[in-house]
Amino acid sequence: MADTAPDAITLLKNDHREVESLFKQFEEASGTAAKRKIAEKISAELIIHTRIENEHFYPACEGKVDEADLKEAYVEHDAANLLIAEILEAGKDDDFYEAKVKVLKEEIEHHVKEEERWLTGIFSQAKRHGVDMDALGATLADAKARIEQEIAKDGPEVHLAALKKTKVATA
Ligand SMILES: [Fe+2]
Ligand SMILES: [Fe+2]
Repeated sequence: MADTAPDAITLLKNDHREVESLFKQFEEASGTAAKRKIAEKISAELIIHTRIENEHFYPACEGKVDEADLKEAYVEHDAANLLIAEILEAGKDDDFYEAKVKVLKEEIEHHVKEEERWLTGIFSQAKRHGVDMDALGATLADAKARIEQEIAKDGPEVHLAALKKTKVATA
């Protein structure tokens, strides 16, 4: 895995593009069943992504990235996770389902901009201050594969309890 894994920033940016494409598919899909299937995929991708950032990427950024920026990013992950839990638990005729997915998309767009912003974003700061993106890329790829297996086996709902337990409140 370590030999072939992309560096951490490439891996995380690839995830961002994948989720953007899924949100677009959601908007273009018609029919409740099709939309729910895509929303479940979006949820799974975001669960994996926020976990590998919370557990590996952000900790590696401690002391290298402005502390206020990192704190804000953790809170944004928590907010997104609460919405993801609502989407996963939504009943069959939730009138707010599409609105929830739309708000999640807007939250993620904002968050991704703050990670990727040229020079001042979290990724730029981390790289400039010497975070080893090659080593971290291998760690992220391993963690991602592990969580993907969990979700493939039991569905994204396996993470529901953890999604509602915000990192910031429990830190
Ligand atoms: Fe990210
Ligand atoms: Fe993030």
